[in-house]
Amino acid sequence: MTDTTSTPPDLGTEHVTLDVAGRVATLTLNRPEKLNAVTPEMSHALVRAVEWCDTTDDVRAVVLTGAGGRAFSAGSDIRALDGYATPWEFRNRVDYCDALRAARTPTIAAVGGYALGGGLETALSCDIRLASHTASFGAPEITLGWIGGGGMAAFLSRAAGPSNAALMLLTGERIDAATALRWHLVSEVVAPDELLARARALAAVIASRAPVAAETAKINLRAAGNLPEDQALAYERDLQTVCFATEDAAEGRRAFAEKRPPVFRKR
Ligand code: COA
Repeated sequence: MTDTTSTPPDLGTEHVTLDVAGRVATLTLNRPEKLNAVTPEMSHALVRAVEWCDTTDDVRAVVLTGAGGRAFSAGSDIRALDGYATPWEFRNRVDYCDALRAARTPTIAAVGGYALGGGLETALSCDIRLASHTASFGAPEITLGWIGGGGMAAFLSRAAGPSNAALMLLTGERIDAATALRWHLVSEVVAPDELLARARALAAVIASRAPVAAETAKINLRAAGNLPEDQALAYERDLQTVCFATEDAAEGRRAFAEKRPPVFRKR
């Protein structure tokens, strides 16, 4: 069912906030005193926030960022990991990377400071990543005795290539923003005080586009990375046909003919 109001839900914790301006939602990991390390409560809040953004007509793009300037997120709260009664309970935890990856709405990670472990995986689970000059990225799990479990190897090797991914996964050492840009982990690096504004401006551009087409473009990108080429091409043609049949596509063609901006209604 579609919620037509834009009042954000109660997320059950002050450590994740959700603000909506225009058609852009900003989700903030808000636990700066712990470098925005993610607790189970925060995972639940992220799931709820993403679900709400996906089902609210008024939200068409999401910016994910971290409060305090020192960190996007230092990953899972290490102390909270002791709270799982059994390995199976740990295995079946609500995963915040899954939450972002499940988003149908386009997502932009605005990374300032540390993006470590699950923080890096969360950024990698967003569609677009922007960084400030202060950003650093790392997979430190190996220094603790385990490995990432939120898609680290798959996403890192896809973005940065197998050798760079192995270098990060096997050493646990951090790379800086310039290296992340060179390795295609991020699309842009900007000054720290410009990061959020740039992410929101980019989100506003995406939010102005046809929303069904934007959601379909995400599905198509995912398919392009996962399916054999012939299947990916056939699927793309089908997805294009779905978009082409929407009211918004008719509006796009009409607006072009009438030389005016289109008004997209997610129909
Ligand atoms: N889980 C829980 N708490 C964390 C955390 C995490 N992942 N990362 C940082 N914190 C906490 C610290 O314990 C500290 O809390 P305290 O003041 O109560 O002691 C606070 O955040 C500030 O971190 P601190 O370590 O004092 O800052 P620093 O500048 O010296 O070091 C880091 C910064 C990021 C290098 C360091 O905090 C670190 O290595 N964190 C763990 C990162 C990690 O391994 N993530 C993967 C988890 S699976």
